[in-house]
Amino acid sequence: MSEDPRTHHPSTAGPDPAAVSGMFGRIAGRYDLVNHLLTGGIDVWWRRNLVRAVTASNPSRVVDLATGSGDVAFALRRALTDEVEIVGLDFCRPMLEEAEKKKQRRASCPNLNFAFGDILELPLDDGSADAVTISFGLRNLANRAKGLREMRRCLKPDTGRLFVLEFTQPARWIRPFYFPYLRHVLPCLAGWISGDVAAYRYLNTSIEGFPPAARITAEIESAGFREVRARSMTGSIVTLHEALA
Ligand SMILES: C[S@@+](CC[C@H](N)C(=O)[O-])C[C@H]1O[C@@H](n2cnc3c(N)ncnc32)[C@H](O)[C@@H]1O
Repeated sequence: MSEDPRTHHPSTAGPDPAAVSGMFGRIAGRYDLVNHLLTGGIDVWWRRNLVRAVTASNPSRVVDLATGSGDVAFALRRALTDEVEIVGLDFCRPMLEEAEKKKQRRASCPNLNFAFGDILELPLDDGSADAVTISFGLRNLANRAKGLREMRRCLKPDTGRLFVLEFTQPARWIRPFYFPYLRHVLPCLAGWISGDVAAYRYLNTSIEGFPPAARITAEIESAGFREVRARSMTGSIVTLHEALA
C-alpha cells in the first residue's frame, strides 16, 4: 500500500487505511500541539460544543471513535458523571499510546478506557452504546457508508445518538482567507513543527475534497439514521452533525 493517504484505497472512495494509520502514527507525539497552534485553540471550543450536545443526551455509555490522543474522551470524562462509561477506540497504536500517557498523568480518570478498534469493523456488540462520537475522523475513513452503518449497529435502536464533528466546506466569505491558509501556510507551519509536511498536505487535500455538510447529512440518513441535524461553526469550517439511530 502507498504511504501517502492521498492515494485512495483501490476498492473504495476514501483514503487508504494503512497509509492513514501510518501517517497518524508518525505525527502522534506532536498531534495535540499542532492542532492547538494551527487552529489558534478554537479546536477546543469545537470539541466543547460536541461534548455539550452529548451531555444533553444523558448517556450511560459513550464510545468515542477515532479517539486519537483522546481529547474528546477526556472532555467527556470531565463533563459527565463518573458512572457514565466512556470508551475511546482508534486503529493507530501510537495515538492510543499518547491517550494512555495523558490518562496516566491525570490524578483520577474513572471509567474511561482506550482500546484498539477499526471503525469499519467495530469490536462492539449491537445496540451497546447510548452515544457514539467521532471528531475529525469521518474524513479519514476508506468507506464512509460502511463506517456509518457500523456506528448505527452499535447504537441502541431508536434512542442511541450519533455525533459527528468534522471539517466541512466553508462559507463563501471565508474562502479567500481559508483556502490559501490551508494550502500554503498550514502544511509549512505544521510540517516544520511536526517534521512531517506530507501529513499536513494530506490534511489540506482531505479537507478540500470533503463533501459539503448537506451531503454528509444525506450520507448519515442513507445509513439509516433519523432526525439528522447539522450545526455549522466558524463560517462552516466545521459542522457538528447529530442523528438518532
Ligand atoms: C484527525 S485524528 C482525530 C483525533 C481526535 N478525535 C480529535 O478530535 O483530535 C483522526 C483519527 O482517526 C483515526 N482513524 C482513521 N481511520 C480510522 C479507522 N478506520 N478506525 C479507527 N480509527 C481511525 C486515526 O488513527 C486518527 O487517530
